[in-house]
Amino acid sequence: THIDWSTSSAQKNGFDHFMLKEIFEQPRVIADTLNHYIDADTLTLRRDRMPFTRKQAVLLRQLTIVACGTAYHAGMMGKALIQQLAKVRVDTEIASEYRYSEMLNTENEVVIAVSQSGETADTVAAVRKARKNGQRVIALCNVIGSTIARETDAVLYTLAGPEIAVASTKAYSTQMLLFELIALDLANLRGELSDEDLKRHLTELLQIPAKMEQILAQKETVKAFAQSQCKCNDVFFIGRLMDYYSSLEAALKLKEISYLHSEAYAAGELKHGTIAMIDDATLVVAIATQESILEKTMSNVQEVRARGAKLLLLTNYPFEPPVGAELWNIPHTFDEFAPMLTIVYLQLFAYYMALQKGCDIDKPRNLAKSVTVE
Ligand code: G6P
Repeated sequence: THIDWSTSSAQKNGFDHFMLKEIFEQPRVIADTLNHYIDADTLTLRRDRMPFTRKQAVLLRQLTIVACGTAYHAGMMGKALIQQLAKVRVDTEIASEYRYSEMLNTENEVVIAVSQSGETADTVAAVRKARKNGQRVIALCNVIGSTIARETDAVLYTLAGPEIAVASTKAYSTQMLLFELIALDLANLRGELSDEDLKRHLTELLQIPAKMEQILAQKETVKAFAQSQCKCNDVFFIGRLMDYYSSLEAALKLKEISYLHSEAYAAGELKHGTIAMIDDATLVVAIATQESILEKTMSNVQEVRARGAKLLLLTNYPFEPPVGAELWNIPHTFDEFAPMLTIVYLQLFAYYMALQKGCDIDKPRNLAKSVTVE
């Protein structure tokens, strides 16, 4: 694999922060990654760049995804995508837990390690443990020739280019994209998705960069809303299934760079405790992009609204938002691709909240880009 990392990637190119620049690079790096794995003429996946043969795909019984931080959140999305599309059982584990936990090997289990840097100590340790146990390990990595890329049986690179800001943005969206591709490929190889349906999905995936651009064009709306919310004490992100996994990443982004208290909740779990915290100084961000559970999430939205919370709703379905709520529309796409669009809004939201609070966005306190010690 030959991937160019030009020197211009290490400069801000007129953006105030690397984080903002990297958020805006997403349409391009998603397109680069799509190009690398999809043959656009035949609308097929490039077989030599995908990690499973048909036989391996059919025999596969269990996938275990290991990662830390934002890469772990991409791994949660990977679990939802692969289970839903390819009908393979998937567990996603935090690498620092996995490395010390009892491993119950399943026959024909494969491990996928996700890491932007390829150097995170806990993920490296998880890879070594899995390999010692005789498991095949596939890496999703951004840095070429990194430790994890060198020590695994196969590597799929994200073509995000150098990511300088500590808070990960473009690496996350390209990691999600690789999981979309792996899920579609496994589904097709296992007979769960016809060749024609695969083409339909790949055609839609090729539209994602343009749809990301539509969201980036809304940055002034996001900025104005962030300015109006800078006095809130807590932010809860809620959603179900993939929208819950987007919530996890959105809450992490906000904490990392703005130091605001934020948490993600599976929407149906709110009533088991967290709803007690909700008052009129709380902002609730509700994500509703999955048709199968739309009504359920919307009823949770009504519950938090009734308790006085301010509300921001992100959806790709037509909804009359509750009175006084802010609504951000996600361009229409297949439900399983919506998380790649949702997160662009929420990265911008975290950025503008942090900007409003005068935080050191590219180098948040106490955090490191790559954690190479345990
Ligand atoms: C650090 C970074 C996070 C990142 C995590 C995993 O905590 O601050 O942004 O998600 O490490 O890094 P990796 O390089 O393994 O993806």
